[in-house]
Amino acid sequence: MEAQNTPKQRIFSGIQPTGNLTLGNYIGALRNFGVLQNEYDCLYSIVDMHAITVRQEPSELRKACLRTMAIFLASGLDPEKNIIYFQSQVPQHAELGWILDCFTYMGELSRMTQFKDKSAKHADNINAGLFTYPVLMAADILLYMTNLVPIGADQKQHLELARDIALRFNAVYGDVFNVPEGYFPKVGARIMSLQDPTRKMSKSDPEECYIAILDKPEIIRKKLRRAVTDSDNSVVFDPENKPGIANLMSIMYALSDKSMDEITADYDGKGYGVFKDAVADCVISALEPIQKEYDRISADKAYLEQVMISGRERAEQIAWKTMLKVRKKVGLAALKL
Ligand code: TYM
Repeated sequence: MEAQNTPKQRIFSGIQPTGNLTLGNYIGALRNFGVLQNEYDCLYSIVDMHAITVRQEPSELRKACLRTMAIFLASGLDPEKNIIYFQSQVPQHAELGWILDCFTYMGELSRMTQFKDKSAKHADNINAGLFTYPVLMAADILLYMTNLVPIGADQKQHLELARDIALRFNAVYGDVFNVPEGYFPKVGARIMSLQDPTRKMSKSDPEECYIAILDKPEIIRKKLRRAVTDSDNSVVFDPENKPGIANLMSIMYALSDKSMDEITADYDGKGYGVFKDAVADCVISALEPIQKEYDRISADKAYLEQVMISGRERAEQIAWKTMLKVRKKVGLAALKL
């Protein structure tokens, strides 16, 4: 859906600080964050509590949190205009998560495709957090009276659940939560794996399957040259029969100002090698400025710390307001501050 031009509308989105952020995260979500920052009141969270639903190496997770914040900033998010913060530093997320657990059904959670995928991938650790993950995500969103949630297509089912929970809660207690809408890119809402273009590009897959936002140009080119395509050599957008080429076309479309028809006109019949190199040029020129900024920002630990502290304080102020209301509505013991 299109963003509306109402200045006071609120946006919330989150990204897990696990592994390397990918081109999928960038095109599906992060790039839209920057576009929206001028028209909306935006909160962007590094959702570290979501990350521990699978086992993490603690010191690596802590580093990944800061890396993710530096990528947010490097991709153009202004920490004055946006509230950028770590989820775990605002304890109201967990608190609201618990309350919303009591408004969510087991049947709803067992239908979540991400739960099914992740429990197949981590069969030795199908913990309750993995199961209730979408409720914490609903809490993230509802805590800030969010109107719009920029996400990729894989998060659509979770957003729908958040909407259902909000409506259910409101039906009991009156208009407490805003019922949020999704904001999806027209093309690129699901960037696919370079090695299996029928599956989404994921940071938890082997390296050759994804392009990381921080991949160096020669690595990007190498990965794209090796991307799985087909053997008929025509550059036409046909996701069903030519998923590999359709994926590369979507990447080019998202990162250039060319239409699909122009891409076909420019590259059809020229051979996949030429096309893949042109896609690599687009990706490299989109990511290089972010990488330069990232190098600069990630070296400035004091700045990152300052963004972290101010983000937490600003987020918590809004979160408290919601929690005081919610606590009262559900009848929890009155909190005297
Ligand atoms: P995560 O961390 O897996 O991904 C972050 C964002 O990137 C999008 N994305 C993609 N978009 C297009 N193509 C892809 N291959 C691709 N891979 C990832 C995701 O859709 C997402 O928008 N549960 C969420 C994080 C979260 C959240 C929230 C998001 C927690 N709370 C509240 C929005 C609002 C997740 O795991 O995203």
